[in-house]
Amino acid sequence: MLGCGSVGSQVVRLLGEQADDLAARVGAPVELVGVAVRRLDSPREVEVPAGLLTTDAAALVARDDVDVVIEVIGGIEPARSLILSALEHGASVVTANKALLAEDGATLFEAAEKAGRDLYYEAAVAGAIPILRPLRESLAGDKVTRVLGIVNGTTNFILDKMDTSGAGFGDALEEAQALGYAEADPTADVEGFDAAAKAAILASLAFHSRVTASDVHREGITEVSAGDVRSARDMDSVVKLLAIAELRTDEQGEEAVSVRVHPAMIPRSHPLASVREAYNAVFVESEAAGQLMFYGPGAGGSPTASAVLGDLVTVARNHRQGTRGVGESAYADRAVLPMGETRTRYHVAIDVDDKAGVLAAVALAFAEHGVSIQTVRQEGRGDDAQLVVVSHEATDAALSATVDHLRGMDIVREVTSVMRVEGAEE
Ligand SMILES: NC(=O)c1ccc[n+]([C@@H]2O[C@H](COP(=O)([O-])OP(=O)(O)OC[C@H]3O[C@@H](n4cnc5c(N)ncnc54)[C@H](OP(=O)(O)O)[C@@H]3O)[C@@H](O)[C@H]2O)c1
Repeated sequence: MLGCGSVGSQVVRLLGEQADDLAARVGAPVELVGVAVRRLDSPREVEVPAGLLTTDAAALVARDDVDVVIEVIGGIEPARSLILSALEHGASVVTANKALLAEDGATLFEAAEKAGRDLYYEAAVAGAIPILRPLRESLAGDKVTRVLGIVNGTTNFILDKMDTSGAGFGDALEEAQALGYAEADPTADVEGFDAAAKAAILASLAFHSRVTASDVHREGITEVSAGDVRSARDMDSVVKLLAIAELRTDEQGEEAVSVRVHPAMIPRSHPLASVREAYNAVFVESEAAGQLMFYGPGAGGSPTASAVLGDLVTVARNHRQGTRGVGESAYADRAVLPMGETRTRYHVAIDVDDKAGVLAAVALAFAEHGVSIQTVRQEGRGDDAQLVVVSHEATDAALSATVDHLRGMDIVREVTSVMRVEGAEE
């Protein structure tokens, strides 16, 4: 094992507690032969058997008697070099490292292929929820068209609090930090970096193409206001940070991958709207199966360790039988669609002057950018007059140009809320 922190310590615990069952399932005992850490004296949640702790991770992965390496250090280096060395020395690898897979998965998959070993990583996306294996194996005979995920528990907790209590982003973040759902530096979560890494992994598997974190259009939730959440409520919708990967057609008529992370309004009737607090869920649409939803705890030492151990049993069994599981499947090699060409829908709330012709002028602004309107609602009168427009699908570039146009109009006092709409009927 490489790493013995939140996840690693729970893997060590379960390896001990479930030794007999694991041996029966694998067909041979699973013996922990070494645990590499940064410092021998760091406080640990479990007692690691005497003599197993080491700070020399490079020597551990190169040992002849190591069949499987579990990497739960995290980050790019030294995790990447250690995984590559483990594969070169003949071990299969189980990792929970979303950051590394999303940045440089290709190097790892190629090394696993060359070495003829397994590389499994169920824990890297949505913690305990089995979602990668369903995409890799169960749905291998189907055509996945769309994946919508709530894959970051911290942001879901914050948005859920904003929805239920009316709190602003700052207060909800403070509550999340006080309860241990958000880190002292919440950037990776609230700015969508964590979800973007997971979106890249999901998109690669769903569409049999290589997608990296840098391909993912990313917007976090720091700009989501109490007003946006109220606007969503008025539409019987809820705001969620979504990781979205879908098959779209590009301007040349070729199938391409659209992959993005941003806050969006979804109707309360959508299954993802019922995902509360820090839970995660991934909603998959495929041609033959239709709609599937995978739900559960998306993080935490013990839930994540469950996914790691599931992979461990599989790769250990493969190792004993001299076989390998499914490797990388990137044969489709689909291009990634630029965000501007991706077709989305917008909800726009506008404070306007309450006078004749305003509605027509706003409608004209949408029409000038080729955006058609699905619904318009007028609320209030006089100084409080507000128009709430929901568009039909248009390119994101056209929708964003429409909002810029509205902001420049004399009759528009303020564009108070702009939010993409997902999961609703067109
Ligand atoms: N925590 C979760 O809920 C969760 C969920 C899904 C996926 N993951 C992924 O799981 C991985 C581990 O996360 P975590 O939360 O368990 O991290 P963590 O609590 O920070 O633990 C990291 C462990 O790695 C060790 N380490 C750090 N640098 C090292 C080095 N250079 N050489 C050897 N060991 C080193 C640390 O040693 P010391 O103990 O001596 O400091 C520590 O034991 C990450 O990839 C993360 O993205 C985590």
